[in-house]
Amino acid sequence: MNKTELKSAIIAAKQSTNTLILAHTYQDPDIIDIADISGDSYALAVVATKYPHPNILLCGVRFMAETVKILSPEKKVILSHKSATCPMAEQIAPEKVAEFRKANPDVCVCAYINTTAALKAHCDVCVTSSTAVKIVKKLPQKDILFIPDQNLGAYVQAQVPEKNLILWSGCCPTHHSVSLRDVEQAKAQHPNAKIAMHPECRPEVAAHADMLGSTSAIIEYCENSTDDIIIATERGVYDWLIRKYPQRNFYQLAPNKLICPNMKYTTLQGVLGALEGSSGAVIEMDEELRLAAKRSIDAMLNYGG
Ligand code: 13P
Ligand code: SF4
Repeated sequence: MNKTELKSAIIAAKQSTNTLILAHTYQDPDIIDIADISGDSYALAVVATKYPHPNILLCGVRFMAETVKILSPEKKVILSHKSATCPMAEQIAPEKVAEFRKANPDVCVCAYINTTAALKAHCDVCVTSSTAVKIVKKLPQKDILFIPDQNLGAYVQAQVPEKNLILWSGCCPTHHSVSLRDVEQAKAQHPNAKIAMHPECRPEVAAHADMLGSTSAIIEYCENSTDDIIIATERGVYDWLIRKYPQRNFYQLAPNKLICPNMKYTTLQGVLGALEGSSGAVIEMDEELRLAAKRSIDAMLNYGG
């Protein structure tokens, strides 16, 4: 089948199976085209609860599909590719966090949503990149263990100096790979452009950004500006922007580095297979684990996202 035929087959299959397709903005434009809803990790976490579809196909990485399952246990949740994981989500063994909690009962354990359900089960509260600063400000504890992303943690610490964040040494291999040299090169090529960057980049790189924020915050910043903008996050955001605003000047920072391989595992063929039951992965979760992990997600939602 060619691309057009594949897209038509997917649309027919999602209708016949009553499946809602969610896609993270980092997905390829072809996947965004066949999705019912695309957005950042926070939007995808909550949106499925608002739709009646009994089946959800999540085009993204495993922790995102797990989060949907945690919030919508009655639904069949399918991940678009069985091996699509976020490496950062697995950079800490849950037992390490359990040990830390035991030794430090007064410290709040705050997990970036890019964590496995098993890790979330040991945490007090979750945050996404779009909600981290707001939520950390509201936490009753002064001392907070922030897992697993050291770069997002450093960004939050700078925004919330009244708190004491203990940072784990995890990182996103894709965003962490961006160097100062990459920024200097992009600035030399586009001296008048602003830089919009995801806080998963290293602090010394982030210091050169005009704006730091989540996927949705970067898109909002671009939409509210008339400047030329260098996009310093995963390539999917740039792809999304140039399609929506073809008359604007957007440039991709470090185009060979800012591609998340796991996000790109999903293909049209794979989506069709997942709808037909021959590929993808159905998310199964033990009820005890789900309820334990849900506590930290509920805390995030109660703090107002
Ligand atoms: P957002 O929370 O901005 O969607 O980011 C998710 C992610 O995986 C960033 O690399
Ligand atoms: Fe994980 Fe980084 Fe990929 Fe986001 S870009 S899913 S944090 S590896």
